[in-house]
Amino acid sequence: LFGFKKKVSGLNFTPIDPTDKDDLVLPRGYKYDVVAAYGDVINKKGDTFGYNNDFTMYFPINGSNERGLLWVNHEYTSDLWVTGARGKDGKYTKAQIEKLLYNQGGSIIEVYRDENGVWKMDTTSKYARRITGLTPFKLTGAAKGSKAVGGATNVQGTFANCSGGKTLWNTLLSAEENYEYTARDAGLDETHYGWIVEVDPFNESFAPRKHTALGRFHHENSAMGLTNDGRVVVYMGDDKTDACVYKFISKNKYVESRKQANADLLEEGTLYAANMSKGTWVALTIDAVRAAAKDKKEILEKFQTQADVLVNADEAAKLLGATPTDRPEDVEISPFDKTVFIAHTNNSKHGNIHGHITRFIEANDDLGSLTFDFEIFACGGRQSGFSAPDNLTFDSEGNLWTVTDMSSSVVNKGVFSTFKNNGVFVIPTIGENQGEAFQFASAPVEAELTGPCFTHDETTLFLAVQHPGEETEDIKNPTSMWPHRKGDNQPRPSVVAITGFKY
Ligand code: FEO
Ligand code: CA
Ligand code: CA
Ligand code: CA
Repeated sequence: LFGFKKKVSGLNFTPIDPTDKDDLVLPRGYKYDVVAAYGDVINKKGDTFGYNNDFTMYFPINGSNERGLLWVNHEYTSDLWVTGARGKDGKYTKAQIEKLLYNQGGSIIEVYRDENGVWKMDTTSKYARRITGLTPFKLTGAAKGSKAVGGATNVQGTFANCSGGKTLWNTLLSAEENYEYTARDAGLDETHYGWIVEVDPFNESFAPRKHTALGRFHHENSAMGLTNDGRVVVYMGDDKTDACVYKFISKNKYVESRKQANADLLEEGTLYAANMSKGTWVALTIDAVRAAAKDKKEILEKFQTQADVLVNADEAAKLLGATPTDRPEDVEISPFDKTVFIAHTNNSKHGNIHGHITRFIEANDDLGSLTFDFEIFACGGRQSGFSAPDNLTFDSEGNLWTVTDMSSSVVNKGVFSTFKNNGVFVIPTIGENQGEAFQFASAPVEAELTGPCFTHDETTLFLAVQHPGEETEDIKNPTSMWPHRKGDNQPRPSVVAITGFKY
């Protein structure tokens, strides 16, 4: 089944076979440099790189493909390797809670390619800093200061940061996903989390903020584009079983010369969820929700203002007929035809064990349309060779780079054994081989590959290797020791830079 090899159109690599090797395995001619690993010092102040790196986004410095800032999400921590075990009461101590919060959020690091072609971190950087579960954030939008968030206008920290996106004005959006666990463990108010947050990596005085207009749910990522009349659109997945696909459309238009001031576009607009039976985007407004509630007291009590709709977006979406789907994760807009790709990782409740990738076609090729059609673009399983599609990114040849996330507890077992470790797959969306998956990389043991991001010239691919050795029970006997650095006695989630791309 996996013996058949052919070159991918537009890309010069021979696909690899699935493997269970404890390494990041790449096609012949490619190599990786470990740029930053958990615990590494990132700046002169002594801040350290957080745990379980996920989404990465490269911000060139002066347009360079060889020096830039790299934003990296840190999604969650580990009792074994970060905080230490909880007490007998199941609780962390105050010091453990600080560690928990410090090692989530994001890192801004400066990276460069040296004269030998090796990517490194520049710890003398004037930009390098951490955004953590302890960093002050401001709320924006209709839920700011509302009863629905306990009257809060400023909140503590960001955590559970899964994937994200870049804005048109060169700032960073990061998605708070499974926020419940950390909020509970740290004794923080759950309504303050589950948002899309915005940070300017170059500008510390740009207040980190949470945009409530984009709704509160298990945010996976954000993909930004423009409507044909110039308003900003943000597509978003809600990574939960039976959850909906969303898009936000700003009220006002994007004006390039306003630069970072465009951030206010994310404060006012309409949040929509997809009804896939009708092919319509349903506006999540308080009037619509109250009309749909009819005389159901409980719902009328819960939903009194637009803030209530934003805070309880999933419930509002379903009440208004949006379609529950199989864990919508990453969303990307094709730069070729503005069709929208959504990875549905899986849904064991409905027997969708290996997941699929859906493609939305907006009416009139306008991201502002309120009607759409869709198709299943690719399916996970033995035939395609991948399972559990998660993060996506496009290259300039129209290939959709897809990473997989079979969870550590099932990877390499039962119906997942055929795929071996998680990987990176390249799926052409145009031309020959459309919809076929070709394996580009294989992850270390029990790791997931996340956050693929190319430099503009596509000579480097940044990739986050998350949770190697996650199923380890005995700290003295880890199931993975990746990245196998000299002197290390534990596996370390790390960000790598992959080079060797030839066209
Ligand atoms: Fe954190 Fe949806 O993966
Ligand atoms: Ca993810
Ligand atoms: Ca995932
Ligand atoms: Ca994951």
